[in-house]
Amino acid sequence: MSELNKIALKILSNGKGILAADESTGTMTKRLESVNVTSSPENRLLFRETLFSSESMKNCIGGVILYDETIKQTANSKQKIPELISSFNAVPGIKVDSGAKVLAGSPEEKITEGLDGLRERLKDYYKRGARFTKWRGVYNISDKYPSKLSIHSNAHALARYSSIVQECKMVPIVEPEVLMDGNHSAEDCFDKTSAVLKKCFEELALHNIDLAGIILKPNMILAGASSDKKLSNEDVAKLTLKCLKENVPSEVPGIAFLSGGQSELEATENLNLINKYNDTNFIMTYSYGRALQQSALKFWSKDIKNIQGTQKIFNHRANMCTLASQGKWSAELEKK
Ligand code: 13P
Repeated sequence: MSELNKIALKILSNGKGILAADESTGTMTKRLESVNVTSSPENRLLFRETLFSSESMKNCIGGVILYDETIKQTANSKQKIPELISSFNAVPGIKVDSGAKVLAGSPEEKITEGLDGLRERLKDYYKRGARFTKWRGVYNISDKYPSKLSIHSNAHALARYSSIVQECKMVPIVEPEVLMDGNHSAEDCFDKTSAVLKKCFEELALHNIDLAGIILKPNMILAGASSDKKLSNEDVAKLTLKCLKENVPSEVPGIAFLSGGQSELEATENLNLINKYNDTNFIMTYSYGRALQQSALKFWSKDIKNIQGTQKIFNHRANMCTLASQGKWSAELEKK
């Protein structure tokens, strides 16, 4: 077993999942302002530190994705943030792309940037304790999108990123996110996600990536957020599994879904059903941002000193997601 494969399994095994707390300062500011909290470095740290020192860090959270600001911060407990995360036996990770920019040649689409100087930044993040990384490619659906250009160029960037990350002895999370925005059908999402994944794995193969040392972070197969033809949760699970079985090589150890704008409950229930029907060898777990943090953030915003109350809410959500990663969640458990 390679070292990279060991790291991936440490993050994903036994129902554990990933807490995606890597919102850029711009995104975090929007989240905090939406609940009337000032977005200062101190407040961003306080909320994140509250989550990172919760009980569920021991048994539910296998890895935390950090943002550049956070990996360099020291917690109020005086521990450096990566040390705080490692003290629970969870693995610190870091977002390393510099965001999705206008794709020249198809300006209604996006290309993720951040390859320049990546090797040097990775060496610094490794010294700070990071052992895995994230890069998100983003694709929108319409009758003409994603274009071949967007599918090709984002796959190429994801593969170049992955090869530099593996060279630096870290596990790359490969995140091609086909967005939920729009009124497209689930079949459309299935076809377009399949094309995106196929191209990503072609490029990863071309760049000699050790597939046992990556984590795939895809979207689930859903109808567009403004479509009136919603799928049942069973069909979401079945179509998602079909898409992954057809497009993901079996060497990949695990798949950690993004929540992508689903509610906490939808994201939990869909993951649970995916695991109930999972007839593959892939670990299927979560790498949620909003679907792990939403309720905790809302509660915290009412009294930012109420650490224990906030942690109770976060622990519940993380426990529910970890049960869903094992196909053991049920709606009744939400009430306990
Ligand atoms: P969401 O679960 O809120 O989609 O965030 C996950 C993530 O990391 C997006 O890049």
